[in-house]
Amino acid sequence: MFSKFASIVIVALSALSSVSAAALPTSSDLVVRGGSHSFDNYGGFNSMSSFDNFYGSDNFDNSHFSESSITVVKEKELVCHSQSIEIIQQRLLVLQEMAKRIITEQVCEVETQTIVFEQFHSSMHGFSRDLRRFSGRGVGYDSAIASHFSNFYESDGSLSTSDFGFSGQDLGHSYVIPTGNNWSDSRSRSSVNSAYSAARSAVTKF
Ligand SMILES: *[C@@H]1O[C@H](CO)[C@@H](O)[C@H](O)[C@H]1NC(C)=O
Repeated sequence: MFSKFASIVIVALSALSSVSAAALPTSSDLVVRGGSHSFDNYGGFNSMSSFDNFYGSDNFDNSHFSESSITVVKEKELVCHSQSIEIIQQRLLVLQEMAKRIITEQVCEVETQTIVFEQFHSSMHGFSRDLRRFSGRGVGYDSAIASHFSNFYESDGSLSTSDFGFSGQDLGHSYVIPTGNNWSDSRSRSSVNSAYSAARSAVTKF
């Protein structure tokens, strides 16, 4: 009995160690969190010369963005109106493809393409924490920054190259927090976490 149990434990342990060995990231995948990360002049590329200015140093993913940097503008109250999910998915895919267009047409160094995309991807994740009410920030968006969407194109249809005149540190200065969602402190915490887990477990891991 004992030896059977012991051999099960050993099999389980060896399975565990082979799994963790296989899952061990290669050094290029290894992500060191915290500490100092400057990307100014990364690799000596001109395109990276003042990369850190945008969100400020050591703020690659804009995780320093906090409730205290938010100014809610109250001149108009916006109430959400649900649309069919396909309408939402279409618009979000447009944003995704526009991000790819900007990165592939307006950045030529492949390292810079990679770094700026990771910044975009990771800074967007902050919104996931807003939605689950983990960040302490209001769930909304910066209306001044969002309004530049209409300036994306030149009149000939090419991508605009003009300076919109803001930096990442201006994010939050004109916040709009739409109302009308059905969040309830007592009921939504667990249901939203379940929704998040269901969604994350559907994500294919590479
Ligand atoms: C929000 O709406 C959904 C769909 O109608 C419902 O299932 C859920 O219980 C609502 N949540 C709250 C907190 O009312």
